[in-house]
Amino acid sequence: MTTLPSFQTLFGRPPSVVADAPGRVNLIGEHTDYNGGFVLPAVIPQRTSVELSSRPDRRVVVWSANVEAAERLKEFELGSEAPTRTWIDYVQGVAVALQRRGHRIEGADLRVESRVPIGSGLSSSAALEVAVARAFRSACDLRLDDVELAMAGKWAENEFVGVPTGIMDQMAASLGESGTALFLDTRSMRYERVPIPRSVDLVIIDSGVRHHLVSGEYGVRRAQCEEACRRLGVVQLRDLSPADLGRVDALDEPLCRRARHVVTEDHRVLQAVAAMRANDPGQLGDLFYGSHASMRDDYEVSHPAVDCLVELASSDPDVYGARLTGGGFGGAAVMLARRGSGRDAADRIARRYRAESGETPTVLVPE
Ligand code: GLA
Repeated sequence: MTTLPSFQTLFGRPPSVVADAPGRVNLIGEHTDYNGGFVLPAVIPQRTSVELSSRPDRRVVVWSANVEAAERLKEFELGSEAPTRTWIDYVQGVAVALQRRGHRIEGADLRVESRVPIGSGLSSSAALEVAVARAFRSACDLRLDDVELAMAGKWAENEFVGVPTGIMDQMAASLGESGTALFLDTRSMRYERVPIPRSVDLVIIDSGVRHHLVSGEYGVRRAQCEEACRRLGVVQLRDLSPADLGRVDALDEPLCRRARHVVTEDHRVLQAVAAMRANDPGQLGDLFYGSHASMRDDYEVSHPAVDCLVELASSDPDVYGARLTGGGFGGAAVMLARRGSGRDAADRIARRYRAESGETPTVLVPE
């Protein structure tokens, strides 16, 4: 294995700022954030780190360890950012977002290195956006709180990179703290940190099937939710509760199923928070399975490979619950295992999954 060059080797001086941000796993509350609903993400141990040192000019030169050799070094000029459809757009997007919000940032050299897997539904892009924004915040003494910082990351993702996501990922990367989940109301932006019960080990297994949010299905789901709102005469699906499911079911296909997922999922988040507070892993696990079935059958964002992982988890004696996490169409499954048995359960499930699906799984948590 070749060792990666240090900041000193790349830029001839040490960095003046080191910042980082974690990837996230969503415990429950999927495709609810752009509907004004509830989410419950938690940070994962894998993080993206950014080292930075200011430059005397307006150039931003960025080196990334996580792309092919020929793609590693990119640069742009502050004030002349333009989308390139490559990874540097996340950095450019954050720079534009900060400047549009009235923050003065300076040219800089940056070195990026990430351990958050790309395309697994664990928000590598939000980790990068938040880590870059944090690096500029320290280097340029920006008056920017953690929520505004998350908003700048979301702006970069939506308006500059062009992926129409909600706010969950950036909020999780910016405000998440290990050992807790971030219970966020994406309408009011009120949040609370809820301790993850000590009776469980979180397990995350990557299916080996990459997801692509840019590929359009995410936007199609969003548009279907908006259409369902128009037909039901509500501003956001958040305005509906399980008592409205009769009206929801009367919509045409597939709008009825799309809206049903969002309405039931919002409710499951509230129940999951209650189950966490009551330290009831069995109930929390059942909600995970319910969420997965809803994503698979009603929202249709799962993938047979992830269904297989969840199926195998459901027959494991040490697992309380499992579900697809993140945007979907591949990526990872999150599972709740009995405390102390996460490692063994993960290895068992991964082994059986490899044999059954022919895909190559990676156990991401426990590390
Ligand atoms: C992606 C988006 C989030 C959220 C999830 C689905 O991760 O970035 O905003 O919509 O999908 O819950």
